[in-house]
Amino acid sequence: MAMTTPTRRIHYSPPWGNASIIGVAGSSGSGKTSLALAIVASLNLPWVVILSMDSFYKPLTPAQSAAAFRNEFDFDSPDAIDFDVLVDRLRDVKNGKVADIPVYSFQKHARLEQTTTIYSPHVLILEGIFALHDQRVLDMLDLKIFAEADADLCLSRRLVRDVKERGRDIDGCIKQWFGFVKPNFSKYVAPQREIADIIIPRGIENKVAIAMISSQIQKTLQHKSAQHQLELTRLGKIAEDS
Ligand code: C5P
Repeated sequence: MAMTTPTRRIHYSPPWGNASIIGVAGSSGSGKTSLALAIVASLNLPWVVILSMDSFYKPLTPAQSAAAFRNEFDFDSPDAIDFDVLVDRLRDVKNGKVADIPVYSFQKHARLEQTTTIYSPHVLILEGIFALHDQRVLDMLDLKIFAEADADLCLSRRLVRDVKERGRDIDGCIKQWFGFVKPNFSKYVAPQREIADIIIPRGIENKVAIAMISSQIQKTLQHKSAQHQLELTRLGKIAEDS
């Protein structure tokens, strides 16, 4: 029988197994998506993705769905979000696994059949009204951002967007704003300011803040890359010695 020399198993940990996750919270209509896009543009790196929390609205019962179409369902409470699935998917991303992401339709108030996938980004920007709400999410964030905007500006942006892109009418939008969006902003969304690392006024006009965020993310990536190189060198030495 041939003799084999026992070899120590080397555990290779790829750098993308430790994605940097940035949370961007703020009111509906505060410009979170535009801010996330501006950060992506200023980073100018490959492997950066934006994940919207809209993907994680819970499925509704027929009665809840009927209420949603009457603008009587509260989508602005954290209860409306499936944080368990979100946390699972963020863990997949952190562990360098493929993450299946639900696709949401605002027109239908429902998840669509198809899903989309995220695979191994170096940076993931999570944007949503509750991006800084759940402790399990907070524990995974490398940077916590709160987008600050005047309430009138948020309402007017939302009206235009919801009518143009989300199949809504003005009366329904206003009913939803005063019934749920505005009161729940004070109750659940605004308190996230307290745990943000950076509060950004004026959204994408705030070039200084965007440059600061971009340089902070670059520093984190450089640090992770240096740590990874050290780890590879250490593993290489173990392999040589064994
Ligand atoms: O993109 P934005 O952050 O504005 O998305 C969050 C908003 O979407 C919430 O304020 C909620 O009222 C609204 N929403 C909705 N209909 C749904 C799901 C969410 O109007 N079916």
